[in-house]
Amino acid sequence: MNRTRALTSLSMVLLGGAAFAVAALMPATLRAQPATPTDAANYKQLMQMYCVGCHSGPTPFAGLNLEPLDPAKLNENGVIWEKMIRKLRDKQMPPAGMPRPDDATYEAFFKFLESGRDRLAQANPNPGRTTLNRLNRTEYANTIRDLLALNIDVRDLLPGDDTGYGFDNIGDVLSVSPVLLEKYLLTAGKIARAAVGDPNMQPTVEAFEVSHGLKQRDRMDEALPVGSRGGAAVKHRFPVDGEYEISVNISRGRAENYLGLGRERQLDLRLDDQRLGLYTLARNPGRSSLGSGTPPDAHLKARLVVKAGTHEIGASFLKDTIVREGIIDRVREDAVPTYFEGIGAITVTGPYNVQGPGATASRERIFSCLPKAASEEQACAEQILKTVAKRAYRRPVTEDDVKPFVELYQQGCSILSLEQAEKGESKPRTKLVTE
Ligand code: HEC
Repeated sequence: MNRTRALTSLSMVLLGGAAFAVAALMPATLRAQPATPTDAANYKQLMQMYCVGCHSGPTPFAGLNLEPLDPAKLNENGVIWEKMIRKLRDKQMPPAGMPRPDDATYEAFFKFLESGRDRLAQANPNPGRTTLNRLNRTEYANTIRDLLALNIDVRDLLPGDDTGYGFDNIGDVLSVSPVLLEKYLLTAGKIARAAVGDPNMQPTVEAFEVSHGLKQRDRMDEALPVGSRGGAAVKHRFPVDGEYEISVNISRGRAENYLGLGRERQLDLRLDDQRLGLYTLARNPGRSSLGSGTPPDAHLKARLVVKAGTHEIGASFLKDTIVREGIIDRVREDAVPTYFEGIGAITVTGPYNVQGPGATASRERIFSCLPKAASEEQACAEQILKTVAKRAYRRPVTEDDVKPFVELYQQGCSILSLEQAEKGESKPRTKLVTE
């Protein structure tokens, strides 16, 4: 007995499934027949009869006035229609005990509303707006590039992002911990200063290291001169107009011993393909190592004034075109060298004696306005903030959008003028905007 019941219910489920599958295969037009105006008028009447009695007037039940609703216009009052669909599907309305339509009418009305709304959604899909999610660090760097014309190396600034399902740009996975938020704020401060060019910045040291495992046997980069051997070319962003020192270290071996001192070599140091100097690296086969007296590469440096912006530094050796006669070095086949002679690092130190923020691509992008007098300053700052905010939000901005930034700017102004007053300076305030 029990078994038969179980079987019947199973077959019912199967039948239901089959019916469902058939329904899914039917052309959409058959399933959801467009309503005729008479349908709409009939249902308007139905609502009048069964609903409006309670849902109308100055104090309708549940605060819901159904009188103005017209089933011919399912595109209006979407929220209410959706609520009605839910109530009618379960026959919750009209409340129990009140006169209600027969089951078939219920069904028809409910279907009419549901298919009508579905058709509208299909014709005019509205997936809603994407929810706010954190940019991963690559997206962040690209945004900074587009917004401020500034190329940053995010790997130095932000930790790597979590991955989910093999992707690192899934909003779900890109959570924000308090520490990470602090990191982003810190980074934003650095980026803002770099983009605007801070003339009060302290000198910093930035070293570009060349892997000791790189065989520097031929011309290493398109940016290096033809006929050069070994070396490296690096792009460096000089933050402001000022003096910088560019120095080169030759590579060292495992025991910090200088490599390639077996013969005299000529080092060619260039900035944007202009030679800064040709340095002679003396022959010194005495295997000097780091820490034993003056390093053999101590003189490989140039100090010069550089304009703000990205410049290319190239350091390479002139190719030896003659080989001294003698016994040819035997290269052992079994030895796997992991340290090669060449250039070990290029280091940029600065800025010293800052001359000004310079004319960088970032400043050009940000400063859409420059005040000529102190009285123009406020308006100018607002215009700049508006432009940047519009680009950042990717939509026109309102006064309310920009207000917090303007307030921040004013706070900055008052702090600055306070500092100036303390120092007894009377610089024109215009400095804040231009700097
Ligand atoms: C006897 C009065 C009465 C009638 C008739 C009546 N309702 Fe209601 N309706 C209520 C009351 C009371 C509530 C609030 C309680 C509830 O949500 O169940 C309500 C709530 C609702 C809600 C939910 C509102 C919300 O904001 O959640 C909808 C939708 C609704 N009714 C639709 C209808 C429709 C459609 C009809 C006609 C088919 C109808 N009602 C007929 C009394 C009535």
